[in-house]
Amino acid sequence: MRRPLVMGNWKMHGSRASVRQLLTEIVRGVGASPAEVVVCPAYVHLQQAFALCADSAVGVGAQDCSHMAAGAFTGEISAEMLQDIGCRWVILGHSERRQYHGESDDLVAAKLAAALQAGLLPVVCVGETQEEREAGEAEYVVTRQLRGALAGQAALKQVVIAYEPVWAIGTGLTATPGEAQGMHVFIREQLAEIAGADPAAMRVLYGGSVRAANAAELFGQPDIDGGLVGGASLDADEFRNIVAAAGARQ
Ligand code: PGA
Repeated sequence: MRRPLVMGNWKMHGSRASVRQLLTEIVRGVGASPAEVVVCPAYVHLQQAFALCADSAVGVGAQDCSHMAAGAFTGEISAEMLQDIGCRWVILGHSERRQYHGESDDLVAAKLAAALQAGLLPVVCVGETQEEREAGEAEYVVTRQLRGALAGQAALKQVVIAYEPVWAIGTGLTATPGEAQGMHVFIREQLAEIAGADPAAMRVLYGGSVRAANAAELFGQPDIDGGLVGGASLDADEFRNIVAAAGARQ
């Protein structure tokens, strides 16, 4: 049985004061959930998050890492550095990185290799844009992204995939539970084909306007193992209820 996982992607939000308040409430609210819970604050808030999550079941991750190990790469943070400060998780290939920073499938693959080498637990995001969806290319795009990131990588059992249709991120639109479930089944088939991975052992999350109001229905689908949550993860009550929905997954 795959343990449900809920990750909060805080993106570029927060101050020391708001991180303290939000994380204190999340740690208290989540308690000992059957679901695994991880929050991903901005780099500058990671140390504070470790301190606030110490002695709790809430894990901490970063939102990105460099594909390089070390060197003259101004502004970059390596996977090794994250590992060294006690970070366990890292989100890779988020659509906002692909869209605003021109991240290619090759770059995501290099980041994934670096993250695995450093012993981090990577969450690789894939998903089609509205245009691609309308052109009937959703499965083609998701396959390309999966193949681009995962082909030839070792230790894939450690990797979590997040299906995040770009048109659903931050828009209030969500894939219907049936649509998301269909894509998750497709993703599992691809995982077996591309990487020879055991798809039943890997967790596949859904992301894109997950809220307390739609979480139970999404997580009720057999192939949706939890969520990557943006906006709603900045509200402790919403997030706690999303975690509860994941924890109730059979
Ligand atoms: P959202 O973001 O929940 O605000 O749609 C999800 C994400 O970008 O990971």
